[in-house]
This record gives sequence, structure tokens and C-alpha cells, in this order.
Amino acid sequence: MNCPELNRAGQFTTTRARRLKVVAALAICLITTGAAALLTRAVREMSADSSSLPWNLPLVDVDGAVHHPGETGCRALAFVFVTTRCPISNRAIPELNRLAREFASRGIELYGVHVDRSVTRKAAAAHRDEFDVQFPVLLDEAGLILQRLQPTHTPQAIVVDPQGTVLYSGAIDDRHVSPARGSRPVENAWLREALADIADGRRVSVPHTTPIGCCVEPPKPAEQPAAVTYTRHIAPIFQAHCIVCHREGDVGPFPLDTYAEVVRHAEQIRTVVADRTMPPWKPAAGSPHFRDDLRLSPQQIALVDAWTAAGKVEGDPDDLPPPRCFPQGWRLGPPDLVLELPEAFAVPADGPDIYQYFVLPTGLTTDRLVQAVDFQPGNAQVVHHAGFWFDQSGDAREHDEATPAPGYTNFGGPGLAQWIGLGNWTPGTTPQRLPPLTGRLVPAGSDLVLQVHYHPSGKAESDKPRVGLYFAPPEACELVGEIAIGDMKLKIPAGQKGHVHRASYELPVDTRLLDVYPHMHLLGKEIRATAHLPDGSHRDLIHVTNWDYAWQPRYAFCQPLELPRGTRIDLECVYDNSADNPFASNTKPRNVYWGEGSDDEMGLVYFQVLPANPQDFDRLTSDNLSYYKRTLRDFWRAYQARMANARTTGRTPQFRAR
Ligand code: HEC
Repeated sequence: MNCPELNRAGQFTTTRARRLKVVAALAICLITTGAAALLTRAVREMSADSSSLPWNLPLVDVDGAVHHPGETGCRALAFVFVTTRCPISNRAIPELNRLAREFASRGIELYGVHVDRSVTRKAAAAHRDEFDVQFPVLLDEAGLILQRLQPTHTPQAIVVDPQGTVLYSGAIDDRHVSPARGSRPVENAWLREALADIADGRRVSVPHTTPIGCCVEPPKPAEQPAAVTYTRHIAPIFQAHCIVCHREGDVGPFPLDTYAEVVRHAEQIRTVVADRTMPPWKPAAGSPHFRDDLRLSPQQIALVDAWTAAGKVEGDPDDLPPPRCFPQGWRLGPPDLVLELPEAFAVPADGPDIYQYFVLPTGLTTDRLVQAVDFQPGNAQVVHHAGFWFDQSGDAREHDEATPAPGYTNFGGPGLAQWIGLGNWTPGTTPQRLPPLTGRLVPAGSDLVLQVHYHPSGKAESDKPRVGLYFAPPEACELVGEIAIGDMKLKIPAGQKGHVHRASYELPVDTRLLDVYPHMHLLGKEIRATAHLPDGSHRDLIHVTNWDYAWQPRYAFCQPLELPRGTRIDLECVYDNSADNPFASNTKPRNVYWGEGSDDEMGLVYFQVLPANPQDFDRLTSDNLSYYKRTLRDFWRAYQARMANARTTGRTPQFRAR
């Protein structure tokens, strides 16, 4: 079976077509009078916020497949507005199929969007089959696209760049001069020419034409559908935003893929959706666009609210999207090397969260470049997240051997003097390969150190996780590195709320940032990294305002961020060391310093990086390492001494800077 999840870049040419249909703007969702008024107001208030959302939020097509427009770094998104019954719109389909096919490989994703709110998903799918539509077709139940782009006709094409700037708006071509007058030979293929300009990196020569076709009907209040329904509005939202975690056997506490299950939890869902606890997403407004962003738009939140308020109506079965297909097993295909824990780790029924480090020998006899790492929990109900490091020193093995259970425990990191961090896994994220012909160097003989964060479930459980490594092809020669920005001279005075700690690092060479991984412990409240470019401009790199130690993904930029040499990256961390902080592990506030223990603190941001010029790799990584060591020479010395002590006593050391 052809699984749409494997195909997120909009590469429809290789698959049998997916297909489409639309709905009127936001108005679609209007309900009974009271709820309708509430929803309209909520949406009006939130629409400003909505325009700052990225385009790559997930959308469900008429086949139930999920698309993240522009996520894999395309040049442009072409939305073509259609209906089932507009003859001019139907006549355009063969040309749209050609455009979708030809421009997919040139960085342009084409989507059909239905504007008729009375069309069911089933009818849209039937129309797709009848006309052999070969690009994905969306219903846009929540009006996310219609509200933002405000098309007036079908067919109309609106092409935007990944930031949402409109590059072309208008007709497909000039075969029709007015509706109901037949067609003539095409003289100006406006959409095709615009797409060619965009694909070639030129300005669009004709950015605006007048669309000719059927008018998009604004919804008349009297004709509103009776209610927001599960099948039409709610199921596609949950299919795109929730069930990656909330399905049988995954990390969510209950599945959310059927009406019966959703109804059972409706009030609780309404609450956690309204306060944005779910889906879990930390970066604040202003952060760059990241992959795997599952946030809900204000319109979607309003729909969930209105649906619950109006009695949780199930709706027309013809509106229900087909079930989403999740790839089974390893998500990037069979790994080159699978490492598995030889024995299961026992997770007790009760007690605090556990951070366990497992040491898995790679057996590699030569140095290899790793392109991607995937992780499979043995028991998703107790696994919260996982992190990966490589250790060449043998220190991790010594820590492991010092305790009888598999692995060893430590709080803030692997407790190694030197290591290679290879990222982490959090539920809901998709493993990504590094750019072609690049990789992270894993030296021969290294051990993989796997950190798993467990949360006891209420009954005794066990877990036997697996890690899959994907190596770069032999011709790959560009190294991806990692840089860290932080200052270990940290002292958070006892009782202080809102203590600010800063660090800065200047890039010695032109650098591309691939992702960002912010890290603090339990007193952390807010973390922000900003790049100050030599030309005086600045770029936000990450900003988390409600820090949660338990939810620390690595955020992959949709497109690498290119920063010139001389760019200063500033880090600002805010801590609450007062008795009011419910997360603090000290019963009485005391001065807190840098260290790896749960009652110590850290404040760091890591980036995976590619120097613009591959020859600059050593310069970049060694400059960063000496910067990092310089920020805390004393800590470094203490660290080495404790390591040596740990070896003689067999106790896993806790490192602290004083
Ligand atoms: C990235 C994974 C992920 C996604 C996506 C996600 N959830 Fe969750 N959800 C979880 C986890 C994990 C928990 C359990 C939290 C805990 O045990 O503290 C949870 C808990 C919940 C709860 C129970 C909250 C409580 O009070 O304990 C609800 C309700 C919920 N999710 C609804 C949703 C909805 C609705 C969506 C989509 C709009 C969603 N979730 C998306 C992972 C996810």
C-alpha cells in the first residue's frame, strides 16, 4: 500500500493521484446561533494571530493523508481553488495535472482546495476520481487557506512563498475571456509562466491577472450548516494534529481516532486544546518555522470549542476522512545498523521519573558518517523521550558496569567528559536525514549511549528500546558538527525569581544552522537565542516562554538558516529559584550552580551545523569547543577530577561547578 506519510514533500508524480475539494471560508463552520456568534467572535479576535502561523501546519486531503505544505523546503506553494460543478474549473484539471507533475521536482507544491462548503469529502473524492485529479485535494474545513488567501473565483491560483508572500494570483491561463462563452486557444499560460519564473529564481513577470470562472459564494447566514460535526470538522483536525501520538500503542494516554473515543474525552480535550497544552508545542511566536509543528490554528480551536458546546454532533458519514495510514516499523526504511538493549529494563509502577543511560556497543570497525537516527520504544506508555550520544572513551561503559541494572542513571546528561551528541527523539517528531552527502562522524569502536526518560505508568512495566542508524553513502564527505552556546559560570541566588543568565558566541566562519536544541533543568522558565548579524539585523532562533524540563525536543528548521561569519549568537535564560516554583527539587531555596544533578542548573543551546565551506569544519568546531571550555575552566578541571574519582569509587558522578 502506498503510504502518504512517506511522501511529505508533495511528490505526487510517483504515487497514484491523491485528490480534492473545498469549502467556504471560515463561515463554513457556523453552527446554531449562539455558538455561531461565539465562533465568529473568537475567529475575528484570533485571525491576526493566525496569519503569523507557518504554512507547514498539517492538512488532511480527501484521502485522509496528511500534508505539511512547504515543510521540506520548497520554493513555493500553489493553491488552486476549485469546485465540483464549475465547468471552467473542471476544464483546467488536465493542465493543473501537468503543472503539478512538472513543477514538483522544481520545488513547487500544488494543492487543490474546494471552496463549496456543501461538498462532502466522499463527493470530493468521487470528483477527484472522475476527473483523474493528480494533485492533493483539500477541503479546508476550518477555512485556514480560504481565510488567508481570500480567493474570489474558481479556478483561481494563488501562489505563495513559504513565508506566505503572494507571488502570483489570478487565472490559470487565458483560454476563457468570460464565463459561458466557450474556450479559445491559449495564448498566455500565466500560471505556468509564473511557476517557471519562481522555479528559476526570477521575479514573476505577470504577478496578477483577473480570474475568470465561477464566483466563490460567500456563505449566507440562513444557509449555514446546522452544526459543526465530528465527521466534517473535528475528525480531520485530530487526524492531522493528534493521532500521531493518540492511537493504540503510542504515547498518548488514549486513542483519539474514533467518534466514540473523542466523545468520551470531549470536555477534557476542549480544555487542553483551548489552553494550548495539546498538542505539545513550546516555541513562542517569533521563533522560526520548524518541522513537525502540530499547533492548532485559532479557527481549529474555536471549532473544537463550538463542537463541544453544541452537543458533540457526529455528522454525515460521507464527510469522514479515510483513516490515516502510518508507516509500520522504521520510518526511514530498514536501518543500516540496529542496536537493541540485550535485556529489558524494568520500570517500577510508582516513583519519580527515571533518566536511564544504556550503553550499546556499535561494533564499528571504521569511522562512519551517520545521516539519521530513529528510535523505537519497546513500550510507548512509559517512554517519554530519548537522547543519543556516542562515547569513545569507555567512560559510559564504566558507569554502566558500576550498577547491576542495565545502564546507569544520571540527571542532566550522560556524565561524560567528551561525547558526540546525535540528537534526540520525542513523540510526534519524524526522523530526518541530514542534507545529502553529509553526516555526523561516529568514530570506530564508539558506544552508543542511549538516554531514555521513563515515567512510571501506575503498574510495573518493562521496556526494550531499539535504535536504528542510517549511514551516509560512501561518497559523502561533508561533516555536520554541533556547536554549543552557554556559560557555565552560573549562580542563581537562593529565593530569586526571574534570574537572568546570558551567554554569547561569535561564529568564526559562514555557517548553516540545521536545528536547535535548547536545554535547562527544573528552575528554567524561559530560554531565547537570537542571532545578531554583522549588518546589524537580527534573527530569532528559538524562544520558549513556558519551559518544561520534561518536553525538550530538538527543533529542525524547515530550511537551514544561513548566518555569516561574525554573527553573534546571544543566549538568554531565565530561572525561578524561589519557593513559589513548583518544579524546584530543593525543598528550601539555596544558591544553585551549574551541574548535572536534578538540583543543579544548566542553560545551553545546541545547534547542528554545516560550515558553508566544508574546509571550515575543524575551524568551527574547535573554535566552539575552546569557547565552551573557556567559559568554565574551573568547572572543566573539577569535572575531570570527579571523573577520575568516579572510576575508583564506581559511583556515577554528579558534576557541579562552584
Ligand atoms: C506529540 C504527541 C502528542 C500530540 C501530537 C498530542 N498529544 Fe495529547 N497527550 C500526549 C501525551 C504524552 C499525553 C499524556 C500527558 C501526561 O501523561 O502527562 C497527552 C494527554 C492528552 C490529554 C489528557 C490531558 C490530561 O489532562 O491529562 C488530552 C485530552 C489530550 N492529550 C488531547 C490531545 C489532542 C486533542 C491533541 C490534538 C489536538 C493532542 N492531544 C495531541 C501527547 C500528544
